[in-house]
Amino acid sequence: MRHTFTLANGVEIPAVGFGTYKAADNTDEAIISEAIRQGYRHLDTAAFYFNEEAVGKAVRESGIPREDFFLTSKVWKDHLGYDSTLQEFESTCKRLGTDYLDLYLIHWPRPSDLNAEWRDLDVETWKALEDLYKSKKVRAIGVSNFLPHHLNNLLERTSITPMVNQLEFHPGYMQKAAVDFCKQMGIQVEAWSPIGRARVLKEPLLMELAEKYQVSVAQICIRFALQCGVLPLPKSSSSERMHQNLDVFGFDIEENDMYQLMTLPQIGWSGEHPDRERVRF
Ligand code: A2P
Repeated sequence: MRHTFTLANGVEIPAVGFGTYKAADNTDEAIISEAIRQGYRHLDTAAFYFNEEAVGKAVRESGIPREDFFLTSKVWKDHLGYDSTLQEFESTCKRLGTDYLDLYLIHWPRPSDLNAEWRDLDVETWKALEDLYKSKKVRAIGVSNFLPHHLNNLLERTSITPMVNQLEFHPGYMQKAAVDFCKQMGIQVEAWSPIGRARVLKEPLLMELAEKYQVSVAQICIRFALQCGVLPLPKSSSSERMHQNLDVFGFDIEENDMYQLMTLPQIGWSGEHPDRERVRF
């Protein structure tokens, strides 16, 4: 398996990225620096994570050239709209200390589950992303947490198909309809929370497969995403686990084991759905 995916516009993206959301309270920069030391070059942040400055500082202080990194950020749902998205993009670049992004995403398709204006807001926001892309301020553009009906709204009313859709994805929550739709449209799916939560880590099938392949449950989850053609963005605050989560290219999950993973009943989902009020567990 190659260690990169190629987006619809030809841009190469490292096949495993580092998720920086809540990397840890007030220690984001140390964690991100450690992730860079462990070999991560694809860093996924967002205005809403409030750690773009830390990401930018860790990148600069690594001494590694900016162009060796793949930096993703996202416009938060309170700032949807053409002008505010352009402003947010500038603020994000400033906080990251960069003059371009590798990937810029719309973080959520609607400001809240009650918002009825989301269709027009998404189109205006997407037009801002298209203009940023055309002016080469960003190498690729996409969305996050968009379901097929949110994507169709953009596909029907704008000219560039999103190159990426970042979704919650892990064994026990595969969002098959959304992933299949993206595959048909040539949209690369990225997985947030590819390891899921405690319930996923303790799932007997995953523990059994970890034993069989002599890897950890987290490695099974990350490899599972890759074999589904989905780009995983694991988070971790420990050097050893960061390292482990990148070490997923030395084994193959057999077809029947993939089917078992793909047909697990729903487990470990976050409770976040773009059209619903958040479910708290
Ligand atoms: P920790 O920071 O202590 O490593 P996800 O990205 O799916 O949301 O999962 C993130 C959670 O998974 C974090 O709580 C992280 O804890 C934990 N985690 C990350 N990598 C591993 C691993 N290799 N083994 C066990 N837990 C992990």
